[in-house]
Amino acid sequence: SISVIAIDGPSASGKGTVAQRVASVLGFHYLDSGALYRLTALAAEKAGADWADEGAVAAVAEALDVVFAGEAVTLGGEDVSLAIRSEHIGVGASKVAALPAVRTALLQRQRDFAQAPGLVGDGRDMGEVIFPQAQLKVFLTASAEARAERRYKQLLGRGEVADLAAITADLAARDERDRQRPVAPLRQLPDARLLDTTAMGIEEAVATVLGWWQE
Ligand code: CDP
Repeated sequence: SISVIAIDGPSASGKGTVAQRVASVLGFHYLDSGALYRLTALAAEKAGADWADEGAVAAVAEALDVVFAGEAVTLGGEDVSLAIRSEHIGVGASKVAALPAVRTALLQRQRDFAQAPGLVGDGRDMGEVIFPQAQLKVFLTASAEARAERRYKQLLGRGEVADLAAITADLAARDERDRQRPVAPLRQLPDARLLDTTAMGIEEAVATVLGWWQE
């Protein structure tokens, strides 16, 4: 069977960076599942579909014409790499992700990323729903303050206007929505290793995951 490392955790915990680095060291494929929810929110908005309209948004998710090419993401041929990273689309992603039909529509698309020699998947339900057979499951988190600080720096780095208090409130609201939803809620699985990166640099986090993988 294909090797899978599932990395789940809350917003802005550093999962994406760690998952990408681990994948590159091991020569594995990488699935940024959050990008699919972000793309769905963006495509729904472009199609004039309300983020709460489950049927319409699920149809958009099913039909997503997306290509991942390294760091770049295109939607219907248009480069949306930056557009999907805004806080506005992040909020939309967290809303559409709570709709069961949307999650179902994106299920197979995610599983198709599991190709030889292996995959590192990052998201909220990699270990529970998408790849329950994963050989290594990691719950990667950091304190709310550290996560808000990281997201703040990330947005400033992209030239977005950012406000730390607003980001802190926004992350809290999204985490709450992810934890409380009835389908695929965010939670640490009993078989997942806990990696708290509050006081840890990226290199140390990557080395920890690689160490677990080699055990
Ligand atoms: O960058 P950040 O961690 O804030 O978010 P993301 O990983 O890009 O995911 C955006 C949103 O999609 C999250 O707030 C979740 O609500 C949702 N999501 C999900 O429900 N399941 C996943 N496997 C990945 C993301």
